[in-house]
Amino acid sequence: MKEIDWSNLPFGYMRTDYNVRCYYRDGKWGELELCSEETLNIHMAATCLHYGQEAFEGLKAFRGKDGKIRIFRPEANAERLQSTCNGILMPELPTELFCEAVRKVVKANERFIPPYESGASLYIRPLLIGIGAQVGVHPAKEYLFVVFVTPVGPYFKGGFATNSYVIIRQYDRAAPLGTGIYKVGGNYAASLRANKMAHDAGYACEFYLDAKEKKYIDECGAANFFGIKNNTYVTPLSSSILPSITNRSLMQLAEDMGLKVERRPIPEEELATFEEAGACGTAAVISPIERIDDLENQKSYVIAKDGKPGPISEKLYHKLRAIQYGDEPDPYGWVTVID
Ligand code: PLP
Ligand code: COI
Repeated sequence: MKEIDWSNLPFGYMRTDYNVRCYYRDGKWGELELCSEETLNIHMAATCLHYGQEAFEGLKAFRGKDGKIRIFRPEANAERLQSTCNGILMPELPTELFCEAVRKVVKANERFIPPYESGASLYIRPLLIGIGAQVGVHPAKEYLFVVFVTPVGPYFKGGFATNSYVIIRQYDRAAPLGTGIYKVGGNYAASLRANKMAHDAGYACEFYLDAKEKKYIDECGAANFFGIKNNTYVTPLSSSILPSITNRSLMQLAEDMGLKVERRPIPEEELATFEEAGACGTAAVISPIERIDDLENQKSYVIAKDGKPGPISEKLYHKLRAIQYGDEPDPYGWVTVID
């Protein structure tokens, strides 16, 4: 194997040794299969290709100082996938089968888990697709669940460093009663133009307001938003954002640090009042926000005035990472340890 430069990994795909697959046929899930093929051979009329019967997840495994492998909150991802399955009429995958598939693929690709010192991690990508053929708009009768892994570095430039975002009003990623709360590929297709506009203009990512009124904060690209002020952690309550497991974990850690936690609609103008803010997610971890620009209204909300991450974001970041890498106790049983 070519030497891997663990400390300079991008957030991208690298071929690993194995993926795990499981088929749903005749109304039931089959056995987990270990596979070394990178490609899928599926019917051209598969529902995932035509009608978007596709769901995915994202979670990470970490190598600790003690050499042990830790997977962060796989049960929570299993539950979110079940919710997505309900949302687009796919059969739910049982939590135990999901977690077993994740453990199996991580263990089989152990040599790709970045070393502790690198600060990198192994990204785990579960995928569930309708593979049965349909021409009318109906759910498939057959499904395939696949999990692959790839070692990754930071999603946003600089890792734990501030970045700037831009409010995009021309495109919505999800409608109020649409699929925004599910992790389906269609939401990401809907985000590609906004994402390109933001990147072309030199921003880290696009920033969404609610689709109906364009008044409240929704999400920062593929990450949730949080703001901090007056010793309070504030995060949006919205029917069109993905329920982030990282955000849920940070709300708990913030409460443990003595912060108040508020989940409520956040009007755009309130951005001017935050002492700190961040984008959070599995890939993003915490990406502190320097500035959010609203170009149409010629407004710029400068949050990190000195361009540096704020002290509470920093504390939350280190606490989360310490639990993930096993440096500190895991009081909520978030971590699955594999020897
Ligand atoms: N929002 C969107 C749209 C995402 O794609 C993700 C990534 O999964 C998140 C938020 C963050 O969620 P999580 O913390 O569960 O990774
Ligand atoms: C994640 O944080 O796991 C994501 O899904 C982000 C993105 C690569 C889709």
